[in-house]
Amino acid sequence: MQEFYASAIRLTEDVLCEELRELDFKSVRLNRGGIPFRGEWSDGWRACLQSRIAQRILVVVGRSPVTTADQLYDAVRAVDWSPYITTQQTFSVSSVAVGSTLNHSGFVALRAKDAIVDQIRDREGDRPSVDRDDPDVRVFVYLANDKATIYLDMSGSPLHLRGYRARGGGAPLRETLAAAILRMVGWDRRSPLIDPMCGSGTIAIESALWASGVAPGLARERFGFERWACHGEIQAQQMRTLRGALRGDVTGQKPSIIAADIDSEALEIAQDNAKIAGIKLAFRQQSVLDLQPDGAARIVVTNPPYGKRLATESDFPAQFGRVIRRLHGWRVALLSATDVYEKAILLKPSHKIPLVNGDLDVHLLIYDIE
Ligand SMILES: C[S@@+](CC[C@H](N)C(=O)[O-])C[C@H]1O[C@@H](n2cnc3c(N)ncnc32)[C@H](O)[C@@H]1O
Repeated sequence: MQEFYASAIRLTEDVLCEELRELDFKSVRLNRGGIPFRGEWSDGWRACLQSRIAQRILVVVGRSPVTTADQLYDAVRAVDWSPYITTQQTFSVSSVAVGSTLNHSGFVALRAKDAIVDQIRDREGDRPSVDRDDPDVRVFVYLANDKATIYLDMSGSPLHLRGYRARGGGAPLRETLAAAILRMVGWDRRSPLIDPMCGSGTIAIESALWASGVAPGLARERFGFERWACHGEIQAQQMRTLRGALRGDVTGQKPSIIAADIDSEALEIAQDNAKIAGIKLAFRQQSVLDLQPDGAARIVVTNPPYGKRLATESDFPAQFGRVIRRLHGWRVALLSATDVYEKAILLKPSHKIPLVNGDLDVHLLIYDIE
């Protein structure tokens, strides 16, 4: 059994925990920052392919109390790196140090890197190179309260990079955050959904992928662990089998999902992205201010524009508020970076959930319009 850790965008831990339990991973534990779980190696692979909300999947390869640089060096050197890194592979080490005697994360990463290089050089007579941008193997050392946990990053590049976003448009949401929001909103994967300010289409595409049971990692060419030394032809075949099995799990459920935007260029980007993701959505070029109740009790999930000008000059929030108040029977969820929308809507949200979008503190406002 391996110990895994699924890292989460801050404040999405609860929904990530719920998702991992639903996906039948074992010993899933709610924890701030990310969710630990256990399983076989193949469960780590499956988590990379199936989790819509995790940012990364890490696996623990070492653990030790550490208060000095030498202890850190010894702890990293005690890990057998030969299954992962050979002289042919590149690697990188990153680190976070909190509440510990060694409190400089750059120094921790440097000592850990030395320990790995020395172990391999002593054994092979040569050393692997460091590549910070696109390494074959990513090592992460987390030092908290003088305890070091040494991880390998199974995902490689973060999991929000699904492989379908050719272009991002203005201010695209991370795919993992969009997936977390869809869960927070309580969407049942069947009800008609609309993102009337879809930008590059992230929310609409993530909702269609989720509804039809398409594993989000299937569009990724490869994950970090597929570049490790131990990932040979047998493992590659097992991975193909796993991908095939997940393709077979697709339910094909296709609720009505509309992606709309006022901007034709944004819509074009959203259309291209949906095509790469292999899903069909209904696209509309229209202003959200023309949104009308259409008989279907829809759920609106959207990320409206923000910025200083909105708060001071524009009457868009007030007009938008009037539109929302006439959507009787709808649920409306907005990811809002300012309080201008909340003030303009003049209704009490049924939920107001704090979240983080990039470096912005934001709120997910959920309204059930009577
Ligand atoms: C913050 S971006 C949305 C980003 C999107 N969630 C994504 O992941 O790419 C806001 C979007 O609202 C659109 N927008 C602004 N005013 C609009 C209006 N009146 N009606 C419809 N869309 C509008 C913009 O064109 C922009 O694409």
